[in-house]
Amino acid sequence: MDRYEGTVVIASIRGRNLLSLDELSKEAIVEVLDTAESFVEVNRRSIKKVPALKGRVVASLFFEESTRTRLSFETAAKRLSADVLSLAVASSSVKKGESLRDTIATIDALGIDAVVMRHRSSGAALQVSRYVPHVRVINGGDGQHQHPTQGLLDAFTIRQILSERHDTTGLESGAALFEGLRILIVGDIRHSRVARSDVAAYATLGAEVRLCAPGTLLPEDVATWPVTVASDLDDALAWADVVGLLRLQSERGSGAFVASLSEFTFTHGLTVERARRMKPDALIMHPGPMNRGVEIDSRVVDSSRAVVERQVSNGVPIRMAVLYLSVAGSGEWQTR
Ligand code: CP
Repeated sequence: MDRYEGTVVIASIRGRNLLSLDELSKEAIVEVLDTAESFVEVNRRSIKKVPALKGRVVASLFFEESTRTRLSFETAAKRLSADVLSLAVASSSVKKGESLRDTIATIDALGIDAVVMRHRSSGAALQVSRYVPHVRVINGGDGQHQHPTQGLLDAFTIRQILSERHDTTGLESGAALFEGLRILIVGDIRHSRVARSDVAAYATLGAEVRLCAPGTLLPEDVATWPVTVASDLDDALAWADVVGLLRLQSERGSGAFVASLSEFTFTHGLTVERARRMKPDALIMHPGPMNRGVEIDSRVVDSSRAVVERQVSNGVPIRMAVLYLSVAGSGEWQTR
């Protein structure tokens, strides 16, 4: 996979940046999932706030479009009582040509503890972490490289649902629920940072991961990924316990890799007929935004097996956990 040169696997993100799931051990991932579980309860309260990051400042810098990631990170920071500086990039001095380095230096001069950032360039979050080594940097998606909190919230959602089915808690079961779990990812894998983070999370937790995509939309280095590749989507759907769909990343040029949208839907779209081939209790996931009628039929999205809204909801406790562990670093969070 596209690892940074010299990637070191760490046992905890406490007091550290979160740039890629490739650098997290199973222990580190489980710590985030368990911490998120403790924040689920906060999100159910009438007053959804704890003072864990009171007095800390989190900057939200989204140089590329986002709905879910940006809103849930900013919600998470506010629920931890942090102050949030949100840069509206489209009306900022970035549009006058200010560089990433000078933009970060300017925001740092205002006094910040953490930066949550999304950028179209793979490696941008790593670059920023070098510009401001005293600030915690959380990657909200860099090019086609990584989207670590999406991988964590997807793993959290699977663990939460399987825990409910097994009438146990995620805390009791740890990562055990993933052992032997069959997870299929379908669609534009080549250009997807979500695929890279999902594969890292699922494989590290012990799941069996399979990919299915048109040959042109598989990454060139797929042989180095901890996955198998399915040539037949119908067989793969019958095999899977969890199916994750990915949209065509047109902003990264995926249109040049398929003959037409309708052909992609014909060969790799999750239609109603194909969904019938799945196991009755298999989960259907999508990180969003979806292109209904292309990679997934609208009726499949709206079926009871699809957990897309649960994924969005879980974005808040996962991002609270990541901010808390990364920025506060140590100690128990105060509940009131
Ligand atoms: N899944 C995801 O990253 O969605 P947004 O682009 O809306 O943040």
